[in-house]
Amino acid sequence: MRWRYFILLLVIILLIVAGLIYQHQDKVSLVKTPPIALAQWYKPENKRQVWLHNMFKLRREMQAVEFYAQQQEAELLHKWVGQLNEHYLKVADMVPAWQKKLSLQTMAELKLASDKKDFSAVLVQHKTLQQSCDACHEDYQAITALTYRTADFRGIKITEKISFTEHMNSLTKQVNQIKISAQDGNKYLALATLVELNQGMVTLGETCVDCHKKDRKTYPSEAMKSTLSSLQVSLELGTAKQQGRDLGTLAVLACARCHGTHRLAYGMKKKLINKQSLADLIKH
Ligand code: HEC
Ligand code: HEC
Ligand code: HEC
Repeated sequence: MRWRYFILLLVIILLIVAGLIYQHQDKVSLVKTPPIALAQWYKPENKRQVWLHNMFKLRREMQAVEFYAQQQEAELLHKWVGQLNEHYLKVADMVPAWQKKLSLQTMAELKLASDKKDFSAVLVQHKTLQQSCDACHEDYQAITALTYRTADFRGIKITEKISFTEHMNSLTKQVNQIKISAQDGNKYLALATLVELNQGMVTLGETCVDCHKKDRKTYPSEAMKSTLSSLQVSLELGTAKQQGRDLGTLAVLACARCHGTHRLAYGMKKKLINKQSLADLIKH
């Protein structure tokens, strides 16, 4: 008798678990994250983007190998195959966990074919080798770029007291306050808030240089400045339609453009970093 209850209980628990999994199935997605060993080949752990530069070399070498095999120029082919071999093997030196991703057999056969001046065999192996590049890229390229090369705003502060996110929230409030006050005919408050927004943008603009050292970004740009003054005029004298249009233009130029680059990518990066530290935690 007792056993029956016990089995019934088990069945119920199983059903609940299955139900939970089913409910969440559309909310879970699995991405392969690159091995932690990769970090040492990127800034800030490394001065240069070593991993990426090795990849650029590989692409150039693959192109040269194909070219000289087609041209049937044995000597130059030999030279480039040597370099390709070196940088292909370097992948596993840098990230040992990725040794199994390499097609060492294909690389060896490509070398052999080049030594034998068997140009058509070189071209066949070249094609197979390219598939090993593609397979790894399929899984890891986008994720790696996002993890290690996307601008990181964690260290960016507006002042000692005001965080970047807090500043973002006050900018948004100002934009909306202008809209609300203009709609409700409170011209004075709308104009006063516009002055604050302008100041807030100038302050935000001072943070760009933290990262954009050579490629200076002027924020607010000339286009933003002229929209700001056009908005000022329309808040004073214009119709609701003109006000709405100027505010919309400003939001696109001053907020949405940068979000398209920075907020989008940084948001993804934050998710990945969290995921990785969780994976680390489990491992240890
Ligand atoms: C074991 C994995 C792996 C293998 C094998 C591999 N790559 Fe990559 N490759 C990567 C990763 C990861 C990135 C992303 C790096 C980044 O964007 O910072 C990348 C990026 C690149 C890029 C830069 C793409 C761009 O324009 O930003 C090139 C070019 C490239 N690989 C060429 C090659 C070639 C050619 C081969 C084969 C001969 C190859 N790779 C083999 C992992 C691999
Ligand atoms: C944490 C570092 C960092 C900060 C702060 C930063 N950027 Fe960037 N920005 C980058 C990097 C790195 C790139 C190159 C693309 C990428 O990897 O995201 C970039 C790319 C861009 C781009 C697109 C490419 C281009 O050159 O046109 C724009 C536009 C841009 N940033 C605007 C700004 C503005 C405006 C500010 C200040 C309000 C700013 N960024 C602050 C690091 C930063
Ligand atoms: C550097 C380019 C840049 C510019 C210019 C910019 N933002 Fe942002 N914004 C970001 C980034 C990056 C984040 C994500 C911050 C984070 O997740 O910590 C963000 C996040 C936000 C958020 C969400 C804050 C939160 O609580 O998560 C709001 C709201 C916002 N921005 C409003 C604005 C408004 C309004 C403007 C224009 C007046 C603007 N931003 C201009 C980069 C920018």
